[in-house]
Amino acid sequence: MRTRPRRLRQSPAMRRLVRQTRLHPSELVLPMFVREGGDPRPIDSMPGVAQHSMDSFRGALVEAAGAGVGGVMLFGVPAQRDAVGSGATDPAGILNAATEVAVAEVGDALVVQTDLCLDEFTNHGHCGVLDDRGRVDNDATLARYAEMALAQARAGSALLGLSGMMDGQVAHVRDALDGEGFTDVALLGYAAKYASAYYGPFRDAVDSQLTGDRRTYQLDAGNRREGLREAELDIAEGADVVMVKPASSYLDVLADVAAVSEVPVWAYQVSGEYAMVEAAAAQGWLDRDAVIAESVLAIRRAGAEAVLTYWAMELAQRLRNEEL
Ligand code: PBG
Repeated sequence: MRTRPRRLRQSPAMRRLVRQTRLHPSELVLPMFVREGGDPRPIDSMPGVAQHSMDSFRGALVEAAGAGVGGVMLFGVPAQRDAVGSGATDPAGILNAATEVAVAEVGDALVVQTDLCLDEFTNHGHCGVLDDRGRVDNDATLARYAEMALAQARAGSALLGLSGMMDGQVAHVRDALDGEGFTDVALLGYAAKYASAYYGPFRDAVDSQLTGDRRTYQLDAGNRREGLREAELDIAEGADVVMVKPASSYLDVLADVAAVSEVPVWAYQVSGEYAMVEAAAAQGWLDRDAVIAESVLAIRRAGAEAVLTYWAMELAQRLRNEEL
C-alpha cells in the first residue's frame, strides 16, 4: 500500500498545515435583537441571547467590535405593530434608531447590517402587506421594502439583508436606493431562504405575531434546484452577496450556490440550529464548544464565506486563544 491518507493526520502540526478551512472572526456576523422601551429580556428558547434595550445594545456592540466580529445584523422588536408595518419606515422606529446608534458606536470597526423585512413590524406577522383576501401581496410589498430600504440607508446601514422572499425585491430596492443616491449601500439577497421549522426560536425572539406559515414565499424544503434559481435571480438583479438559510440542513444548496456564484455567498445558522446545540449541551449530551466550532466550520467548508451565527462573539473570543 503506497497510498496512506493517514500520513497527513499523524501530528497536530501536520493536521494544522493541511487543514483546508478555518475560522476567522472577520467572517462571523452576529445577529442582534433590540427592543423598544424597557429592560433587556432573555429569550427562553435561545439561552444566552437577549432582546437588548438600547443601553445593553450599546455595551454588546462595543464587546462585539472588541472581539473582532465582521459585522452585526440588526433586528428590531417594536412596541406597536400595524397592518403595513409602519414602524419599519419611521425614522424613529426601533430598528432605524438602533442602526443610528450602532453606526455611531462601532460603524468604523465592523459592518452594520439591517434586516429588511416587515414581519417584525406587522400585526399579522407576515413579511409583506396583505391584499383584501389576506394573501401576501408581492408588488405592494415591494413598495414598502423600497421605503424601508431608504429609511435604513438614511440611518446609516451599510448592508441591507433582504429576507422577505418577495419576487423582484433586490432589483426594486436597488433602484430605490440608487434613485436617492445611496449607490454604496450593499444588498444581501436572502436568495435561498427555506420555509423552515428551525426559525421557531426566532419567532419568540421577535415576539412574532404570525399565525399560519410562510410557504407562499419561502422555499419548500424538498427543493434543491430552486435554491440555485433564486440565487441566480438575485445575482442578476444586482445582489452584492447572496445567502442560504438555514445553514446546516441546507449544505447541499449552499454548495450548489457557492459553485456558481460570482458574488460572496453567506449562510445563516439560524435560531433552531443554535437552540438544539444549547439544549443538548445543557443536558450534558454534547461537547458544546466542540460542536459549535464543528458546525460553523462545516458551513464554511460547504462554501459559505461568512456565517451569521448567534455564537459569533463567543467564537471570535475563542479564536484569540485557539485555532478553529
Ligand atoms: C424574517 C426573518 C426570520 C429569520 C430571520 N429573518 C424569520 C422567518 O422568516 O420566519 C430567522 C432567523 C433565525 O431563525 O435565527 N425577517
